[in-house]
Amino acid sequence: MKLLIASNNKHKIREISDVLKGKFDVVSLDEENIVCDPEENGETFLQNATIKANAVAKHTALAVLADDTGLCVDALGGLPGVHSARFAGDHDNAQNRKKLLQMMTGTTNRKAHFTCVVVLRYPDGKTIHAEGRVDGEILTEERGNNGFGYDSLFFCTELGKTFAEATEEEKNAVSHRGRALHNLLEKL
Ligand code: IMP
Repeated sequence: MKLLIASNNKHKIREISDVLKGKFDVVSLDEENIVCDPEENGETFLQNATIKANAVAKHTALAVLADDTGLCVDALGGLPGVHSARFAGDHDNAQNRKKLLQMMTGTTNRKAHFTCVVVLRYPDGKTIHAEGRVDGEILTEERGNNGFGYDSLFFCTELGKTFAEATEEEKNAVSHRGRALHNLLEKL
């Protein structure tokens, strides 16, 4: 089955493709010549992922997969959470990381987790969703050059390194997105 990934983020598309390879024929918005960047104004990850899936579905007859992810920091009461992409401005990852470090200056409780919700929308409009989570800590400085977003600040407890120090295979094996996708596959 051909599956269109509702994201313009090349890192995300690669991670999703790696997990779903052999199960779906994954295509990107670019490959389908679709330009779509809806406003993510939901209050939950599920609402935002559904907004993305429905917006992209207007441009295609294919099944669509959307994900919405957030970094939730205990000492910040769960922030940035659903505001992760626009924490310090508009999709500026470096500024988002800088703001996070500033807000956590002197904070000893560094516990955090990523949550990811994936929504699969069939061409007939039916949807199915799944969630994944991974726990870790926010470092006081960045480590590693792989990944994207908050990866260089997130020390993954299970891997014993940041996601930016991990290979994509290592990240996918334990990550919020990898787990959400595996949970989705189990539901299918
Ligand atoms: P969205 O799911 O694309 O809306 O992403 C929300 C925010 O979280 C953006 O700032 C992304 O860069 C960041 N983000 C999403 N997934 C990951 C990830 O796997 N690692 C680190 N940051 C991520």
